[in-house]
Amino acid sequence: MLTGRSPSTPSDDRARPDVAVVGAGPIGLSIAWRCAARGLRVVVHDPASGSGASAVAAGMLSPVAEAYFGERQLTELLLASAARWPAFAAELTEASGVQLGYRTEGTLVVGLTGDDLAEARRLWAYQQGLGLPVTPLRPTELRDREPALAPRVRGGALASTDHQVDPRLLVPALRTAAQRAGALLVPQAVRHLSEVDAAVTVVAAGCGAADLTGLPVRPVKGQILRLRAPGGVAPGFRHVIRGYADGETVYLVPRTDGEVVLGATVEERSDTTVTAGAVLRLLRASVDLLPELAEYDLVETVAGLRPGTPDNAPILGPLPGRPDVLAATGHHRHGIVLTPVTADLIADLVTTGVADPLLTPFQPDRFAGAEPGPGGRPDQMMEEDRWNSR
Ligand code: GLY
Repeated sequence: MLTGRSPSTPSDDRARPDVAVVGAGPIGLSIAWRCAARGLRVVVHDPASGSGASAVAAGMLSPVAEAYFGERQLTELLLASAARWPAFAAELTEASGVQLGYRTEGTLVVGLTGDDLAEARRLWAYQQGLGLPVTPLRPTELRDREPALAPRVRGGALASTDHQVDPRLLVPALRTAAQRAGALLVPQAVRHLSEVDAAVTVVAAGCGAADLTGLPVRPVKGQILRLRAPGGVAPGFRHVIRGYADGETVYLVPRTDGEVVLGATVEERSDTTVTAGAVLRLLRASVDLLPELAEYDLVETVAGLRPGTPDNAPILGPLPGRPDVLAATGHHRHGIVLTPVTADLIADLVTTGVADPLLTPFQPDRFAGAEPGPGGRPDQMMEEDRWNSR
């Protein structure tokens, strides 16, 4: 590792980068920014920065509403990262001059029918058991907060600390901040790690990490829609809404510029086709919860691929037997919220060689002997496509 460096003691070796980052999405760029700001010479390789999972991500910063049974360690990492987001957003806006669409109105989780509400309540009970701030609301309190909700929505809860950011603003901001800090962006693909010459290589290539490292990262398809409120006005609701609607789940993310992001499917597939059935189900669930959405313009239908792992948690740390190659991938459904903690802890690891204890559960060697990469299981052998059940 690159010990003892600081912004005032940059590398003396002008020929060789200290750090090569493969992948210029939010994870790779934020690591590059943090490392460059510490005085390291950083090169980032990506032929199409921001064209991976972040291009379709909604940008929910939602460790509370997404705290799920059996994922306690992941929840701890999500909470640690969400706690860093306010300072991270302020610092990034200062460094880049870009507003990120960071909004703090909070998240409402709502159930359309009695059955939907029962399902939601079971998860709230689990989340409250962890001490997380989920506050059930009476129907009148819910409608006071969001009058646009359909009258038949049965109930809901507030996760006031679950915020949002716009990933399509985040990526250019990180590019600017990384470049201003001195990182060099090279718009070329890396097909093999031997093509990279640096003291430390960070593989932040999302799904592409599988071919580069042999780590078991698989693509998990998500279909997502973007609507726009007519007349150039802001949407008629302010909170992020996570809804259970007749057995489907959906999230609705309002932006101040009038955009609403509706998501998302979670499908064990590696294609990026948009299907009529998925669009139909996303729109039906969304309009059932917020009827005014039927009047909005449908401006984008798109599918992307999340980098999933066998335990749905990220892979953060040195490859087995390669202390000079760090993985920062497999963020699956949580890449945006996990950006600050990943950047800080990987930059710490690069500069000090010491791994923060938060990283311990997410080491690459937990998959020693696992099937490699996205080709490990053909689509038809994977579990049935299912809806986002969170
Ligand atoms: N983070 C939401 C999703 O992956 O759909």
